Amino acid sequence: MERAGDGTDAVLRVRGAKHHYGDTIALAGVDLDVRAGECVALLGPNGAGKTTLVNLAIGLLARQAGEITLAGGDPRHAATRRRLGVVQQSLGFPNTLGVGEAVIGAAIRAGVRRSAAGPVIAELGLTDFVKQRVVKLSGGQRQRVQLAMALVAEPALLVLDEPTVGLDVPARRQFWNLLAQRRAKGTAVLVTTHLIEESAAVADRVVVLDHGRILADDRPEALVDRLPDRTVSARSGLSDAQLLRLPGVVSVDREGEHVRLATRSPEALLRVLLVDDPGLADLRVEGAGLEEAVVALTRGATAGVAA
Ligand SMILES: Nc1ncnc2c1ncn2[C@@H]1O[C@H](COP(=O)(O)OP(=O)(O)OP(=O)(O)O)[C@@H](O)[C@H]1O
Ligand SMILES: [Mg+2]
Repeated sequence: MERAGDGTDAVLRVRGAKHHYGDTIALAGVDLDVRAGECVALLGPNGAGKTTLVNLAIGLLARQAGEITLAGGDPRHAATRRRLGVVQQSLGFPNTLGVGEAVIGAAIRAGVRRSAAGPVIAELGLTDFVKQRVVKLSGGQRQRVQLAMALVAEPALLVLDEPTVGLDVPARRQFWNLLAQRRAKGTAVLVTTHLIEESAAVADRVVVLDHGRILADDRPEALVDRLPDRTVSARSGLSDAQLLRLPGVVSVDREGEHVRLATRSPEALLRVLLVDDPGLADLRVEGAGLEEAVVALTRGATAGVAA
């Protein structure tokens, strides 16, 4: 699937996007493509520039530099934005708005038939709530209403901001299954999340953003391959600086005396640790996941870890 192309076939195409707020540089030149049917997860620490990038893509922010095309048009134009579905983390609903009204309203705004609302409400398991007020629903149910409002427009691109925060495990599965069905029909998905392992399970590509730059844009398996393959955890008497000097240590995560070391050479590390750390206890070695890979990338950019 992966193609190096020029992105002209992409539903969302971003080239050389830069953005600053006063003296703060939020984006320092970003390229991104999201193609039909593809799910791209946007990861990165707080302040990385994720929301800025998303707001440019959905036309909430005016472009300062670079090129952004959504379904072939300018995301600042209302006609282009009709091709877009957005699910935000906490959207306020008017007090009196009913579930059915909310979805029908979204259909009308998107210029599709009102009758499109019923099937989408059913698809999301909201038929029993159709007459209820949205504000009376649980967080997870409200999230489904938002998704119904986004899907009823048959969007070319769905943009999801932390969409599964507050959902229980079955609701989460159901949410991703629903999206998989839409993706199979060609809907592109861009999702920002702090749930790294979840993004690995659902995304075709993971894009890691830090300080307004893209550090990685790859399949989740490829990211994990390229980065530390083990985590050594232990109680240690050594300082972070001492630990970072040990062989093959890529990053150190600490909670009090307990440390987690991401490494590409666990055997060499263990040999040194066992000799040099008199305070060593509770030693464990685990396989590293995408979470360690992303932490190592964003921490290790200066240590030459990023490819
Ligand atoms: N409206 C604003 N005015 C001034 N600075 C801003 C504004 N919005 C964002 N910034 C700054 O731009 C940078 C990128 O912020 P952005 O909100 O895009 O990050 P983020 O990756 O979404 O972070 P988070 O994970 O915390 O949501 C940060 O340094 C932030 O302080
Ligand atoms: Mg944000």
